[in-house]
Amino acid sequence: MTAIITVANQKGGVGKTTTAINLSAALAHRGKRTLLIDLDPQANSTIAFYDTGEIATSMFDVLSDSRTTLTAVIKPTKDPLLFLGPGRLSLAKLEQVLAGQFDAPFKLKDAMTPVLKDYDYVILDTPPSLGILTVNALVASTHLLVPIQAAYFAIEGTDDLLETYERIRARPNPGLKVLGVVITLFDRRTNISKDTHGQIRSVFGEVLFKTKITKNVRLEESPAYKETILTFAPKSPGAVEYKKLAGEVIQRVEENRATHHAEDAA
Ligand SMILES: Nc1ncnc2c1ncn2[C@@H]1O[C@H](COP(=O)(O)OP(=O)(O)OP(=O)(O)O)[C@@H](O)[C@H]1O
Ligand SMILES: [Mg+2]
Repeated sequence: MTAIITVANQKGGVGKTTTAINLSAALAHRGKRTLLIDLDPQANSTIAFYDTGEIATSMFDVLSDSRTTLTAVIKPTKDPLLFLGPGRLSLAKLEQVLAGQFDAPFKLKDAMTPVLKDYDYVILDTPPSLGILTVNALVASTHLLVPIQAAYFAIEGTDDLLETYERIRARPNPGLKVLGVVITLFDRRTNISKDTHGQIRSVFGEVLFKTKITKNVRLEESPAYKETILTFAPKSPGAVEYKKLAGEVIQRVEENRATHHAEDAA
């Protein structure tokens, strides 16, 4: 069974895209066939692999026109185990295009069904909002992963995300689970980082991943070179931390599966 993980936080600039790209690369590094899908009109995950001019069709075509299959838009990357479902600015129109369609929240789920057999992991990068794109991601997913920036007021806004999560769990996708919360942009030298780490831990408790992603300029630079941190700076803290995070992600996904099987058998 493929693990489908939405990376979401409606707050902007908290490390969703950096996490989606480098967690995907780290999963591939661990031998998992991984598909990274970019659902953000800003297309930052896409630009980290391709120039905009190289993208002829994108997730917009898949979600707005049932004749375009997901297989048709998926692009390879330099890593043979890592694939990309590209995003584009046109995704910003999706809400308008799908208005009034009763199955609008299910477009991604339907499009993904035929390709799941080809991947161990699908990672979904989402925009900083809780609109139709993030809802499509959550409806199609098995898990939610929330990056939270180690900064004051970091937890504000996660309320709305968790409320959306509960609503999607209540009806269209009762199998959805919180995989975990990961602290990003952590700076060991600042009290802000330490204080907010304590606060995040007290709110999210055991769902918090042990691995923290520290602030590291290499993570900021790598997309400009069309590389992930694993090839751009393999010994940097960012590479080490995202590999560790991938280890924790795989462990949690597999534990989840084991409890599922146990529940099914009972
Ligand atoms: N650990 C890190 N160390 C240094 N810079 C980082 C780190 N994580 C992210 N950044 C930088 O911070 C900025 C915001 O990160 P990113 O784009 O991943 O956030 P986002 O949540 O996807 O933003 P948006 O909400 O706009 O989609 C980017 O310039 C990115 O390169
Ligand atoms: Mg982003």
